[in-house]
Amino acid sequence: MKQLQVGLDDRAYSILIKEGLLLEVGQELKLRQIAKRYIIIADDNVAELFGGHVVESLRKADIPVDLLTFPHGEASKNLATVEKLSRDLARLGVDRQDALIALGGGVTGDITGFLAAIYMRGIPFIQIPTTLLAQVDSSVGGKTGVDIPEGKNLVGCFYQPQCVFIDSAVLSELPREELLNGLAEVVKYGVIYDADFFNFLVANKKSILDLEPAVIEAVIAHCCNIKARVVEADEREADLRRILNYGHTLGHAVEAASNFTIAHGMAISMGMVAVNTLAVKKSLLTEDKAQRVKDVLLGFGLPVDIPPELDRRQMKEFLKSDKKSVGGKPFFILPIQIGKVVITDDVDDALIEEAFG
Ligand code: GLY
Repeated sequence: MKQLQVGLDDRAYSILIKEGLLLEVGQELKLRQIAKRYIIIADDNVAELFGGHVVESLRKADIPVDLLTFPHGEASKNLATVEKLSRDLARLGVDRQDALIALGGGVTGDITGFLAAIYMRGIPFIQIPTTLLAQVDSSVGGKTGVDIPEGKNLVGCFYQPQCVFIDSAVLSELPREELLNGLAEVVKYGVIYDADFFNFLVANKKSILDLEPAVIEAVIAHCCNIKARVVEADEREADLRRILNYGHTLGHAVEAASNFTIAHGMAISMGMVAVNTLAVKKSLLTEDKAQRVKDVLLGFGLPVDIPPELDRRQMKEFLKSDKKSVGGKPFFILPIQIGKVVITDDVDDALIEEAFG
């Protein structure tokens, strides 16, 4: 088992990574004594795939457990779902001695974390991410929240989990698109933070795509380690944490302009290539380095070109209204070499248009 620590003083927590860990969650929770009873929150798909394993593992450890579900998909990530689940918790008599378990991908983690933060003014929660994207990114760092019609993730808060349990074996159950979604975020870590990790990804492409256990676990652990270091330095995204948004400002505009028919990871892949073009045009990054990043993304089977049918004017509007824009001016994370980026809002509109391709 790999164990990492997110060092946030009295809110510090562990990330455990192990193939088959889903079946050992009960034992681990018994050791940690976080709560008297656990309520697993999962979407209907994940509940069917993995809910039974986790329930059984807790029951074997003599820990009381319930399972609540909601319909899968981003459309559930709203205040209505939070209200419905809060009422379910109240009816089950859940109190501050109990804890929630987010079992699923990013949507489940965001909803459950937010619910845990506000139910009875805060109860503990555990993350058990079951997609690669959630395992390497969204389950660590305490971002929680829901969407409103005016924008994604506009209502939420920072609320750290008590523990993150990652079972790499679950990835083989997921559709290939889910794996690709996560791989875009994996490449992100190499470009923003760690050239050696980027080279590792290049050298191990086949083993990663084949989900070879030792390699995929090493990849997850490496990403979580980078994320933990960044979050420890800047939990509330005042400065350094913004580097995790590399490719995301443009990527979100792509997602929105496609009416969310382009999945997050695919859009981020296109966004990373587009900002690299910006960096090259601003003479911050050499063309051969931008090409290396593009080659790695293509090698994993990720898309790199923004589809020509997406409305460029609409994408520019989305950029301005992005919640991370300041005074309508978007900022960009631009690589200056592989493993190192700068944060800037000094990018002309004309250059942005060129980067859209
Ligand atoms: N996914 C970016 C962050 O957690 O800051």
